[in-house]
Amino acid sequence: MALFQDISLTPELLLATAIFSIVFYVVKALRTRVPKGLKSPPGPWGWPIIGHMLTLGKNPHLSLTKLSKQYGDVLQIRIGSTPVVVLSGLDTIRQALVKQGDDFKGRPDLYSFRFITDGQSLIFNPDTGPVWVARRRLAMDALKSFSIASDPNLLSSCYLEEHVSKEANHLVSKFQKQMEKVGHFEPVNLVVESVTNVIGAMCFGKNFPRKSEEMLSIVKSSEDFVENVSSGNAVDFFPILRYLPNPALKKFKNFNDKFVLFLQKTVQEHYQDFSKNSIQDITSALFMHTENSKDSGVQIPYEKIVNIVNDLFGAGFDTVTTAISWSLLLLVTRPNVQRKIHRELVFSNTVFSQKLGGHSSPFLPEPTHSGPVCSSCRKQWEDPFEFRPERFLTDDSTAINKTLSEKVMIFGLGKRRCIGETPAKWEVFLFLAILLHQLEFSVPPGLKVDLTPTYGLTMKPPICKHLQAWPRFSK
Ligand code: HEM
Repeated sequence: MALFQDISLTPELLLATAIFSIVFYVVKALRTRVPKGLKSPPGPWGWPIIGHMLTLGKNPHLSLTKLSKQYGDVLQIRIGSTPVVVLSGLDTIRQALVKQGDDFKGRPDLYSFRFITDGQSLIFNPDTGPVWVARRRLAMDALKSFSIASDPNLLSSCYLEEHVSKEANHLVSKFQKQMEKVGHFEPVNLVVESVTNVIGAMCFGKNFPRKSEEMLSIVKSSEDFVENVSSGNAVDFFPILRYLPNPALKKFKNFNDKFVLFLQKTVQEHYQDFSKNSIQDITSALFMHTENSKDSGVQIPYEKIVNIVNDLFGAGFDTVTTAISWSLLLLVTRPNVQRKIHRELVFSNTVFSQKLGGHSSPFLPEPTHSGPVCSSCRKQWEDPFEFRPERFLTDDSTAINKTLSEKVMIFGLGKRRCIGETPAKWEVFLFLAILLHQLEFSVPPGLKVDLTPTYGLTMKPPICKHLQAWPRFSK
């Protein structure tokens, strides 16, 4: 009796019991019931309320790869109360995204998506209905027409070649100017200007404000965007964080506001000189489509058509800049690879040219987010961390080995596969070919180049301020 009296008198114990009961009932109520005969994919034990948020850490791709070794290619975690299915391994990812493409074509309805392109983005949007299909088709056609197809009035074989040749040659001069001034440079800020001018010219033709300070300050702060749109952003899973001071979210909103404002202004200015008889860029093609679409099948609102240009512009500068910047860093750490490329370029002084991972119908409750972890496919390669581009060549080194190169999924797979893959590959190739044709890249002797990426929508290379570029031919 005395014991019970003592216990009942302890306020801390009462409080602890009350909290425990509330948490227990909330967690129980939130937990999705698995229908009879089905099983949830396996996964580690997670904390109530926060789930596996802490497990993800700063490098979720690495933490999830580690978990997949323990739990297999299809595993389930929770971020907050949202179940997330994690797919690993080449076969499982292909099975889901290609063979079961319709089941996996969706995007989650995330809070952060509302700020991108005023919530009208084609990329960051849960819509997968007929409007999404029509917009994606329209974006693909516009992109193809103004990158791959040729303009009979130009000397180059296609628009992309025209824009890249011009910008890559400017970039060579910018690198050389920095070398003359201080003897070294930081590449990313210079590369991003040139790559932005390429996608800007494709989207807006002559109307793109190439030297605008406003535009340059936006594209140079793209980390405010990519670090927040990455998978596992806490603000998307814990609504309370939306109301607390959150400097990263503030920067993200600011970035999106400035980005949309800049593009809206550019689109409006472009509309002033729009002429049906002269369609020479993506935005004009989209204007034309809005005029012609009144009687066509799926009705897409005007803003949703013109906003496609935001997606193409946004997707076209950061990704390609990141690819070129990584290439330069890797080439200075592997001079033998650079030498091989130089040897190939030296001869030309002109510019060129139903079961998922063994889980029978796993139960995926609604809303379940799912995503592939591409870093989990490393076991496909003997030495995944070695920069050895020749691994993708056929035995006689004369062509690309298609089977091997298809194992790299940097452009995604299935229904959401990147629509910019072909122009992006050409753009990166042409930029690097022109840069490496003219210049040899290095870092001062003894300087160790850090190759640790920063996690985000694109894995950014670390800042290297000591890159050097030397002319290969005397003037
Ligand atoms: C090296 C450069 C690039 C890389 C690595 C890349 C990679 C990707 C990836 C991984 C996706 C998502 C696929 C998925 O969700 O499964 C994607 C989507 C997309 N990319 Fe790219 N991309 C690049 C360049 C470009 C360029 C130059 C453009 C256009 C100018 C572009 C336009 C798009 C669009 C519109 C989507 C969204 C497709 C959709 O949601 O249906 N990308 N890209």
